[in-house]
Amino acid sequence: MHDFSITQDQSTDILYGDLISAARALTDGEPDAIANMANISALIWQYIPDLNWAGFYRVMEDELVLGPFQGKSACIRIAMGKGVCGAAASTNVVQRVADVHAFPGHIACDADSRSELVVPVCKDGKVIAVLDLDSPLPDRFSAADETGMTKLIATIANSLG
Ligand code: SME
Repeated sequence: MHDFSITQDQSTDILYGDLISAARALTDGEPDAIANMANISALIWQYIPDLNWAGFYRVMEDELVLGPFQGKSACIRIAMGKGVCGAAASTNVVQRVADVHAFPGHIACDADSRSELVVPVCKDGKVIAVLDLDSPLPDRFSAADETGMTKLIATIANSLG
């Protein structure tokens, strides 16, 4: 059991600083990517408010396959380039979507989702997975969330594949 005593009632910068320290502590010395994805999903789910899904899709050959996550059961396979996750994986560019209904090809795994943040996970110059966060609130993810999640993933990317 881990208790990181992270307070959510603080600036986004401090929250992400604490979250990144906790993510590093959780993954340090653990080589199993699935175990690490599972713990990082749980960490984000516990400390980032207003999410209805948080987890990973892994790049397997020419598609994305569902990995460890928190939230409702989700679509298992996503073709490269399809939906928000497929767009992030095929372009290696973070997708911060304020209104998922306005995103062409958005895949609605949970009808409650209104906004989404997808961060590619890169190792040795290749996208090996994406972190997908969904929220029932429109425009939930700020530029600070994008920066914070991007830093978090960059810090622990070597532990995720
Ligand atoms: N909405 C995503 C699919 C994954 S679920 O949200 C968990 C997409 O459009 O790629």
